[in-house]
Amino acid sequence: MAPMFHFKECFAVILLLLAGLNFTSGGKLLVIPMDGSHWLSMKPVLKQLRQNGHEMLIVAPEINVHIKPSEDIYSLKTYPVPFTYQEMDENIRAFGNQVFEDLPFLVMVARTIERLKKTSAFFLAGCTHLLNNQELMRYLEQSKFDALFTDPMLPCGQIVAEYLGIPSVFFLRGIPCGFDSEATQCPSPPSYVPRTFTRYSDHMTFAQRVKNMLFRLSESFLCSFVYSPYANLASEFLQRDMTVAELLSNGSVWLMREDYVSNFPKPLMPNMIPIGGINCAGREPLSQVCTFFYSFIFKSLG
Ligand SMILES: *[C@@H]1O[C@H](CO)[C@@H](O)[C@H](O)[C@H]1NC(C)=O
Repeated sequence: MAPMFHFKECFAVILLLLAGLNFTSGGKLLVIPMDGSHWLSMKPVLKQLRQNGHEMLIVAPEINVHIKPSEDIYSLKTYPVPFTYQEMDENIRAFGNQVFEDLPFLVMVARTIERLKKTSAFFLAGCTHLLNNQELMRYLEQSKFDALFTDPMLPCGQIVAEYLGIPSVFFLRGIPCGFDSEATQCPSPPSYVPRTFTRYSDHMTFAQRVKNMLFRLSESFLCSFVYSPYANLASEFLQRDMTVAELLSNGSVWLMREDYVSNFPKPLMPNMIPIGGINCAGREPLSQVCTFFYSFIFKSLG
């Protein structure tokens, strides 16, 4: 009889411990999101994290498109930036309109680079103003967060994580320039893994493999003017020299919104987790226009 009694006691203690764990499971999360559609994909995750008992502080530029207060899910702290809503809006519109312009190829490339430079200047200015905002940075330091949740497309979040000395979780659709494979030291053979924007698959002809390789080399030019300012910013702010890939290499987990239904299989490191299904969280019935469009496509495909 005695051992049975012990078992029951043990059981009760374990139950109590589990209950206790449940109460303390909520962590304190600092979130540095990226504005625009990136934020719209992140929001349902934050909602779920809140339901699981986590506390979250979002830090975002005062001038932004989608990031608005939502007291029941998270608290929001904004910081001043050196541009107006109108300037930002004009830039976004110009970028959007350009897609529909019919321009000669080289003119289009030149314009795209010009636009990209302007757009990344907005983001960079935002990041610089966040890091130089001593009051806000001190507040973040004192808040003692458990981890940082960020979209590494803008490496600003990881600079903050390094500064605060906390682990970071990346949430991303993708990142240009192969920073994901470089930072995680994940194999990414150009004969098998198509580079972003090439529209190739994992089955490439010899010519396509060569082009994929060339594309990879030419990327470094584009990547350097968009991303090298962040390497400088991080090196200056953290007072040690680093490249963007080195900076991102300290990310603990890469939650990648990719799925083998819409993306091709490729090597992944153990801390890269495909979570493509998350894009279906906010599903709704197709609109009439979409339904018509899809049935038209499927009919013509026979
Ligand atoms: C990554 O983290 C380690 C340990 O905290 C630190 O020593 C190192 O400087 C970090 N690397 C970068 C590039 O920040």
